[in-house]
Amino acid sequence: MPTTTDRDRSAAARGGLSRRGLLTAGASGLVGASAVGVPMALASSGTDTAAGPDDALGRATVPFHGVHQAGIATPAQAFATFIAFDLAPDVDRDALGRWMRLWTGNAERLTQGRPALADTDPELARAPSQLTITVGVGPGFLAAAGREDEAPPWLRPLPEFTIDRLESAWSDGDLVVQICADDPVAISHASRMLTKDARAFAGVRWVQAGFRHASGVTPPGATPRNLMGQLDGTTNAEPGTEEFDHQVWIDDGPDWLRGGSSLVLRRIRIEMDTWDMVGRQGKEETIGRRLDDGAPLGGEAEHDEPDFDAVNEIGLTVIPDWSHIRRARPDDPRQRVFRRSYNYDDGPAADGESGAGMLFVSYQADIDAQFIPIQRRLDELDLLNEWTTPIGSAVFAILPGCRPGGWLGEALLD
Ligand code: HEM
Repeated sequence: MPTTTDRDRSAAARGGLSRRGLLTAGASGLVGASAVGVPMALASSGTDTAAGPDDALGRATVPFHGVHQAGIATPAQAFATFIAFDLAPDVDRDALGRWMRLWTGNAERLTQGRPALADTDPELARAPSQLTITVGVGPGFLAAAGREDEAPPWLRPLPEFTIDRLESAWSDGDLVVQICADDPVAISHASRMLTKDARAFAGVRWVQAGFRHASGVTPPGATPRNLMGQLDGTTNAEPGTEEFDHQVWIDDGPDWLRGGSSLVLRRIRIEMDTWDMVGRQGKEETIGRRLDDGAPLGGEAEHDEPDFDAVNEIGLTVIPDWSHIRRARPDDPRQRVFRRSYNYDDGPAADGESGAGMLFVSYQADIDAQFIPIQRRLDELDLLNEWTTPIGSAVFAILPGCRPGGWLGEALLD
């Protein structure tokens, strides 16, 4: 019996259309038709499988427009994918402008639950699940735009730290997009649409996907657990407060950056297999907080102020001097960052060794003034370093948000 492939081959040999060819022609016909609204018509047809009383999570949207881009002050969604791009050699300011206009339009549509332009799978766009799309640029982007003289001093690779074992496969890039949602299908679709749009301008450099607890697993606003079992995020500033705004948003410097921020993304491998050998007390002393409720050692509740001077009966500090929170805590409150990290897990290697880690994500107004002093202290001393190794590192300037009718990067590229 001839197989489908045999039939396709013989149809091709006769100069006719193969089944795959017909299907492809159908798909491109649909792309062509999209310009006259076929997918939009489809999108509003009564066959929406996402419609129904229980799809509130799927239909939930985060506003796209604003002074700041969404996806930073937005309560962290369950899933995130970060994609970094390298620009094609001949891309200039005009081309970057065309790309950013295209992305802005599609990011606006997708985050609001509408199909992208020429969306070949418009149904997938209908459950955005709090999708946010956040764009940042690296030094190469500014150079291609001819604006390198307006780059902030911190927009460069971080200095080398002794704990680093960086791989270029997880580091640097000319542009990054952070795509977050409460549903991985929404992320996959948005990532495919945006990557297609990018093809004429840039190639994918790396992709890093992460996750937190799924929606509904922990109470709203509760601090999530990372893969080491710790409550992680306790001391973060509350979005919307003056403290958060001051820590995160840039309010001076060049026009193109005002209302933006900076992103540090560090891929940190966790040696779960040796961490498993540490007893509960050792694990708690490594961080300086209890595992069950996240309270600082010697304290009662998660949000108690840690007492770094308290000593035990033999005169040792209750929160060890080499613990992560002691070392990460700045004396100068201006050295604080907003952490919005995700777990990753590539699955075990052939020998069973864990492939888990953390996509450490921090947003701050100034990397040199806020992030680097913390990382230097942790580089000098932090017991957590015994089980964690940074293997990727990237720094980007997050563009400000845009108003309706505007586009991301307008002040930089127009
Ligand atoms: C795999 C790596 C890491 C893990 C598992 C981890 C875990 C934690 C945990 C459990 C806490 C305590 C709860 C909280 O306040 O959120 C904490 C606090 C903190 N971490 Fe990390 N962390 C990691 C990497 C880093 C890195 C790379 C930095 C920055 C360079 C950092 C900066 C901080 C800061 C600033 C605090 C708050 C300290 C305070 O003021 O109390 N962490 N981390």
